[in-house]
Amino acid sequence: MGNGVTPDGSPVAAYLAIPVDRDFAPVLDDLWPGASVLDLGCGVGRLANELARRGHEVVGVDESAEMLAHLDAGVQAVQARIEDLDLGRTFDVVVLASHFVNTADAVERHALLACVARHLSPGGSAYVEHWNPDVIDDLHDGEGTAGDVVLRFRLLEQRGAEFDAAITYVVGGEEWTQTFTAEILDEAQLEAAVEAAGLQVFGRLDPKWLVATR
Ligand SMILES: C[S@@+](CC[C@H](N)C(=O)[O-])C[C@H]1O[C@@H](n2cnc3c(N)ncnc32)[C@H](O)[C@@H]1O
Repeated sequence: MGNGVTPDGSPVAAYLAIPVDRDFAPVLDDLWPGASVLDLGCGVGRLANELARRGHEVVGVDESAEMLAHLDAGVQAVQARIEDLDLGRTFDVVVLASHFVNTADAVERHALLACVARHLSPGGSAYVEHWNPDVIDDLHDGEGTAGDVVLRFRLLEQRGAEFDAAITYVVGGEEWTQTFTAEILDEAQLEAAVEAAGLQVFGRLDPKWLVATR
C-alpha cells in the first residue's frame, strides 16, 4: 500500500484538491479541438482528466500508481519514468508541467526534454512550464491558496540561480511538506536546453509557459 505521497514527495490528496485552472489555464486556452495530448508527470490528472472530458485523446504518464489511480477512464494511464519513456508514437501536443525543466541536474533536464521531442509530432506544440526567470532576484517565503489547499513556500537556501525550498500543503486538516532543489533558467538557457533536445522555441503563453515545436 502507498502512503499517499509519490517518490518525489508530491501528496496525492493535495493534488486532488488543487483546481486545474491554477496552473493550466494558459494551456487550456491555447489547445485546439481534437489534438492528441501526452501529459508527462500527469499526477492525479488535473489536466489530463479535463482534456479527456473535452474530447481529447489523452495519455497520462506518471511514475506513481497512486497518482494514476485517479485518472478518468477516458485517459490512458502509463506508469513510467519520463526519462525512460518511449511509446513509439507521437502526439499533437506534449505537456511537461510542474517545473520539471528546472531540475538542477542538466543531464536529467536533457533527458526530460528529449522525451518531449521524441513524442511530439512534426508541427505539434510542446508546452513546457518553468520558473519565471524574473523571480531569481526576489525568491522569498510566502503563502497562498489554491482551491481548498493552503500552500506555504519556504526558501531554505539560495546559491545564485539554484535554490532549495520546501512547500507545505495544508488540506482537510492534514499537511505535507515536499522539499526540492531547482535551478532558475534565464530565457537564453531555457531556449538552449529546449533546442539541444531537438525542439524549436515557438513562443510563450505567459512568463511561465514556453511553447516549442519540431
Ligand atoms: C507536483 S506533481 C504534479 C502533477 C501534475 N503535473 C499536476 O500539475 O497536477 C508531480 C508529479 O510528477 C511525478 N513525477 C515526478 N518525477 C517523475 C518522473 N521522473 N517520471 C514520471 N513521473 C514523475 C510525480 O509522481 C507526481 O505525480
